[in-house]
Amino acid sequence: DGNFIASDVSAILEHTREVYMLDNFDIAKLTKTGISFYNWAGEELTKKIEHITWDASAAEKGGYDHFMLKEIFEQPKAIADTLNHYVDTTTMRIKRDTMPFTKEEARALPKLSIVACGTAYHAGMVGKALIEKLARIPVDVKIASEFRYGDTIFTPGEVFIAVSQSGETADTIAAIKKAKEFGSRVVSLCNVIGSSVARESDSVMYTLAGPEIAVASTKAYITQVLLFTIMALDLAHQRDLLSDAELDSMLKELMGIPKKAELLLMQQDRVKELAAKYSDCKNVFFIGRLLDYCLSMEAALKLKEISYLHSEAYAAGELKHGTIALIEKGTLVVATATQSGVFEKTLSSIEEVRVRGAQLITILGHSHKAEGDLGDVITLPQTPDIFSPLLTIIPMQMFAYYMALERGCDIDKPRNLAKSVTVE
Ligand code: M6R
Repeated sequence: DGNFIASDVSAILEHTREVYMLDNFDIAKLTKTGISFYNWAGEELTKKIEHITWDASAAEKGGYDHFMLKEIFEQPKAIADTLNHYVDTTTMRIKRDTMPFTKEEARALPKLSIVACGTAYHAGMVGKALIEKLARIPVDVKIASEFRYGDTIFTPGEVFIAVSQSGETADTIAAIKKAKEFGSRVVSLCNVIGSSVARESDSVMYTLAGPEIAVASTKAYITQVLLFTIMALDLAHQRDLLSDAELDSMLKELMGIPKKAELLLMQQDRVKELAAKYSDCKNVFFIGRLLDYCLSMEAALKLKEISYLHSEAYAAGELKHGTIALIEKGTLVVATATQSGVFEKTLSSIEEVRVRGAQLITILGHSHKAEGDLGDVITLPQTPDIFSPLLTIIPMQMFAYYMALERGCDIDKPRNLAKSVTVE
């Protein structure tokens, strides 16, 4: 009974789901019975109330030891909810009114630029790989904090895609403003309804992940990757690079991802054992090629931010240009090999680190049979190569979680980090 003020909707969900969003320099006056708004000049403002569909239990641990573990386990639902919002499952078509580009726009797009930070940036890397592969549109992925101060060359007609879970990341908001100053259109991929990123953008595609509380992003990442996957399929279809039948079959495959994600979650105990085996290691290198490399970047960030272990991702083909000098007896290398076109190449990189004494964990695509010693192997359920990021990340997230648990870290609130980076 009353009115509340909060910097994040999740904090007040147990009291209300009716919220007003403040813009910069807005002033709100709260009393027990009412709220009024003013601009900086003191003039009264009229604001529209927003209804948040998240329920209060979504912001509670619900029997899990940590929000992060709960959020990892919510991923099949987050994928299914997001899919159902964007895909008409009876006609097996992407819902046109949920997509940012018309056929004409899709065909005329000269370039896309993705701006984001951290995990959202890594989702953007997957987005670039998928859009370039399927829709043949050039895509740049820019770290928002670099882009906002850099001397970017803008291309006429280039559309920006801003990616953010919280929608309140200062660098991403500044990047959007810069793109708009140039006159570019900005589409955002965002998880929080009515957030600053959503409001600053020309249009929004919401990820339906529900509230993400743990500092380490998991379910938001997977739904960002899913939205990029749907967008890439849609752009390819609009540009006649994917037939109706091909789109149909791809969407049917996508519909099967939540079940496959559940199968991977059932490997929890095995991942826990691996974490116990490797928790003393000092450095971890994640290697892969193409989509597996994009994925490795996110896996390395997950591990370092919650377990405080030094971990880096390398494109497997780059090892021989320097990094391989770091490999010594006992170094842990986590390799991902799910991409058919470069499978043999990845295997030879794995062999190169193995003969130098590395301990290995390998995430293997289902249809790939590999001979030789790949260390501890986790095999993914069968899926087309382009959808593998939606599965590969799950054991990686669990690995980071259990490594952090073994090392006694504060998993939901890792040192020096905040959930939303609202300042520079
Ligand atoms: O809310 P945003 O998606 O804009 O946040 C971006 C990054 O700060 C965020 O992804 C950060 O890297 C996470 N801690 C990663 O788990």
